[in-house]
Amino acid sequence: MESSFTFRPIGIVESPFREKFGTPRQPGLVEESRGTIRLRDDLNPDAFEGLEGYSHIWAIFVFHENQSVREGRETVKTKVKPPRLEGQSVGVFASRSPHRPNPIGLSLLTIDKIEGRALHVRGLDLIDGTPILDLKPYLPSIESKTDASEGWSGALTNKTIAVEWAPQALSDITRLYGNSDIRSEIEKILNLDPRPVSYRGTKENPDPYTSRYGFRHGDFNVVFTMLSHEPKKARIERIEPWADPSTIE
Ligand SMILES: C[S@@+](CC[C@H](N)C(=O)[O-])C[C@H]1O[C@@H](n2cnc3c(N)ncnc32)[C@H](O)[C@@H]1O
Repeated sequence: MESSFTFRPIGIVESPFREKFGTPRQPGLVEESRGTIRLRDDLNPDAFEGLEGYSHIWAIFVFHENQSVREGRETVKTKVKPPRLEGQSVGVFASRSPHRPNPIGLSLLTIDKIEGRALHVRGLDLIDGTPILDLKPYLPSIESKTDASEGWSGALTNKTIAVEWAPQALSDITRLYGNSDIRSEIEKILNLDPRPVSYRGTKENPDPYTSRYGFRHGDFNVVFTMLSHEPKKARIERIEPWADPSTIE
């Protein structure tokens, strides 16, 4: 059983998320997270005809920012450590980990609007530039299972972070984004604790590496400080233009 297949992406995602840090961990967790799936130039946008009546779409994509993908290596590890399990491992096929034998992901997104080659979506969990392999409408009459059971992930409670805004951050967000719902988007991203498990610390050692973080959203950097570990609390300090570290002298 040794075969391989070559697929050409049908389009690319345009997203405010430019790096893994700060990208929601699943679709729909932050419904305000908007982006666009832009169809490849040589594909006729009539491929979208009939989609207007659907509210949600399955996007099948490549985890192109995985280090293994960038280095052209295969991943053959069969156990992964999902962040929500805080160090415990499960089989890769019992997880939504990006690190899988075929680095292919599946996200259920809300359709906002279709404009020519642009499919505007909400509830995004994908990084800018993500190659899309296929799109399929979500069929609630078939795919919504009211008697579904959820394994290990269903038993977990989310340890959220309470968020406050420093006056500087509030004035930054009003100046930069006006009345948009980006304030609530940023707050929810932080509520869900974007930090990697190793950075989350313990009661005795709450900030093993740092208590100050920044995540990129569009052309801006959202700077926040962890204020306390139990209960978890953070303050958004400011929102500043993002500067490429490689160009800073
Ligand atoms: C846990 S995966 C789940 C993705 C999808 N919903 C699934 O279940 O297959 C989501 C995370 O993958 C990472 N990610 C998003 N787009 C990516 C990309 N193009 N390449 C590599 N990692 C990506 C981000 O860190 C994001 O939080």
